Amino acid sequence: MLQHAATAFGMTPWGEAVSSVTLDNGVISCEILTYGAVLRRLLVPDRHGRAVDVVLGYDTLQDYLERDKYFGAVVGRFANRIAKGRFVLNGKEYILPINNGENHHHGGPNGFSQRVWTLEERTDTTATLSLHSPDGDEGYPGNLTAKITYALEGSGLFLRYEALSDADTVCSLLNHSYFNLSGHDTGPVLDQWVTVHASAYTPADGSGVPLGILAPVEGTPMDLRQPVRIGQWVDDGFAQLRQAGGYDHNYVIDGQPGSLRPAAAASSDASGIAMEVLTDRPGVHFYTANFVEPGHTGKDGAVYGPRHGFCLETQHFPDSPNQPAFPSPLLPAGQLCRHETGFVFRTI
Ligand code: BGC
Repeated sequence: MLQHAATAFGMTPWGEAVSSVTLDNGVISCEILTYGAVLRRLLVPDRHGRAVDVVLGYDTLQDYLERDKYFGAVVGRFANRIAKGRFVLNGKEYILPINNGENHHHGGPNGFSQRVWTLEERTDTTATLSLHSPDGDEGYPGNLTAKITYALEGSGLFLRYEALSDADTVCSLLNHSYFNLSGHDTGPVLDQWVTVHASAYTPADGSGVPLGILAPVEGTPMDLRQPVRIGQWVDDGFAQLRQAGGYDHNYVIDGQPGSLRPAAAASSDASGIAMEVLTDRPGVHFYTANFVEPGHTGKDGAVYGPRHGFCLETQHFPDSPNQPAFPSPLLPAGQLCRHETGFVFRTI
């Protein structure tokens, strides 16, 4: 444990100390909390060389404990939805807590984003945090250890995940940062550009659970293969957008999962900051902060609202434990699983 190499950020009501670490490589810097392995700040240079904080966050631990938006958090054991909180593995049905309509969401009400992680190692530019999740935790089988390393390399922030379980289980860890490339406190992102390198997406039902098919984006407002202003179609009458109140969809990233490849990109004309998202995961969830209510107070006096940020959550497809046609999220017993996502910045 390296808590001495960190700054105190508060104490949970159940008596665990939370700390914060700052990483800086002279190009970009960031702040990580042990609570939820949250990315609380990410400062990148704009076109004038000024540092801009491009992720939404809160000032206090209390805010992180009380709010349910997952700002910057590492979500697990299985991110996004598992339909009706049930799945079958090796012939046994597992029942998970329901915390989103009729579904299990983001690992449950006491998921990894609500835990205090252990700071295992840190350097000026890297921090590794770990979390032990016992067998039966939020209903999932297997004693599992999760690790995440945040690493600043050049103009990029790389997130390297590891998971190891002593029994077969399902696992999909992701980072739930809300980006605003003009600065976290600058309001709606509707004028910012997004590209998602995906020819297909997984349409969902009204509760956000995929229907089990891959639908082509071609000819629909889901087609983000060329840069599109986020506001262009977000309020379009297209049924998939209307029922989710905007984008809240898993995209099937073009190319082969398993190797790092471009998943998405975004940019702000105002700041000149452009971001590329690389991942080895099969999917990326594009979410336009549809459920951030107006007047949501954030860090540094910022007041957030709907569409004040966007998420590009690299992931296994939602509900894949129940969807045989989707890439399998099985984490076999004793097999170390590694995944990587990078957010790489430049100016335009
Ligand atoms: C989900 C949204 C949800 C948001 C915050 C996203 O990953 O897909 O439906 O509102 O997380 O919980």
